[in-house]
Amino acid sequence: MLTAEQNKFFVEVGPDKPMGKLLRRYWIPFAGASELDNEATKPVRLLCEDLVVYKDLSGNYGLIDRQCPHRRADLSYGYVEACGLRCNYHGWLFDADGKCVEQPYEDLAHPEIGLKDKVKIKSYPVRECAGLLFAYMGPLPAPELPVWAPFTWKGGFREIVRSDIPCNWFQCQENSIDPVHFEWMHDNWTQRLAGSHDYSTKHLQVAFDELDYGFAYRRIREGQEENSPLWTIGRLALWPIGFYLGEHFEWRVPVDDENTLSLAWFHAQSPSDAPPFEQKSVPTWHSPIMDSNGRWITSHVINQDIVAWVGQGTIADRTKEFLGASDRGIVMMRRRYVEDYKRIEEGLDPKGVIRDPELAKCVPLALIGRTTGAGNLTREEWRRHPFLKSRLKDHRHCYGQPKEVREAFMRAMGFA
Ligand code: FES
Ligand SMILES: [Fe+2]
Repeated sequence: MLTAEQNKFFVEVGPDKPMGKLLRRYWIPFAGASELDNEATKPVRLLCEDLVVYKDLSGNYGLIDRQCPHRRADLSYGYVEACGLRCNYHGWLFDADGKCVEQPYEDLAHPEIGLKDKVKIKSYPVRECAGLLFAYMGPLPAPELPVWAPFTWKGGFREIVRSDIPCNWFQCQENSIDPVHFEWMHDNWTQRLAGSHDYSTKHLQVAFDELDYGFAYRRIREGQEENSPLWTIGRLALWPIGFYLGEHFEWRVPVDDENTLSLAWFHAQSPSDAPPFEQKSVPTWHSPIMDSNGRWITSHVINQDIVAWVGQGTIADRTKEFLGASDRGIVMMRRRYVEDYKRIEEGLDPKGVIRDPELAKCVPLALIGRTTGAGNLTREEWRRHPFLKSRLKDHRHCYGQPKEVREAFMRAMGFA
């Protein structure tokens, strides 16, 4: 249980709030690069700030204030040039560093004043990695962008899925260190939704560890051996806003104090006898979370998680919670955020920040078997595999995979 004041510490992400300052010390994924394939600009709300991301005609990204500093026009309707984004109202042009590089009429009428040199727009570094766009919104110099090892895997099929979640980010992230919900929210509830009253195997033991890049939870369920990777390795709540499950990542990206972007990155290995396949671009798709009756969608794994998150309220009231032994990881994480904030106040880097460029090039994360060696199985073995065969019918985690993405996935796997 927290006090109202303690709860505020975790949930408020504006630029002047403790958690807002802490999260700004990390590269935050906020979009799929392919979202800029058809439109060169996209409005972005991130950590309570309204911004616009763009890809200019030279292929460079920028992330700048959404409002033009001239007379506040909406720059998400601007147009890109060889270098930068031009406001569609009077043509002022801004580069990715926020410098105003052209003011067409002022440059002509009063070049001697040099008005453009006096104007700067807010800007943040943005980088593309593995098909994702990452922003750094903290004090410079920015740390290295960690390239997690799975981002470097060759071959197979990647996709990015986004959902807009109308609740605070922190209750979503607490779900990343919550082993027992898997038994109830995913296994048992899915069975009940399918009409069965059977129960899946019980959790007998859980453990939590602090690691370099997050907090792991480990579990033993009925019938599971102690040498199972679910006990020897576990799953990783990736610091500070992510969840890593081997072949996919999830991030709970704070939009503002009452909204979260659920961003997930998936990789699937092709069967061993699939024809060679090279993915040219990583598709990004939107997964709806509500059905036509105004009820949350419950059919897919991440959709089920979302039901828990939004069910806790727009901002979970932690003055009324009762934590138990299964929540020990949550307590450990909360303590670390508080400690981390103290560190940045002392001028130190918080947990997991990487300054070594060599290390950042490929950061290893402990891996639970890549879906029991999906890449080592033939297509025929996939068809018979209890878990993999479901992938041939639908996306397992997110509702609403578009037809063209499904078809591309099947082609990549050698099934079409
Ligand atoms: S408002 Fe943007 S150039 Fe005038
Ligand atoms: Fe879950």
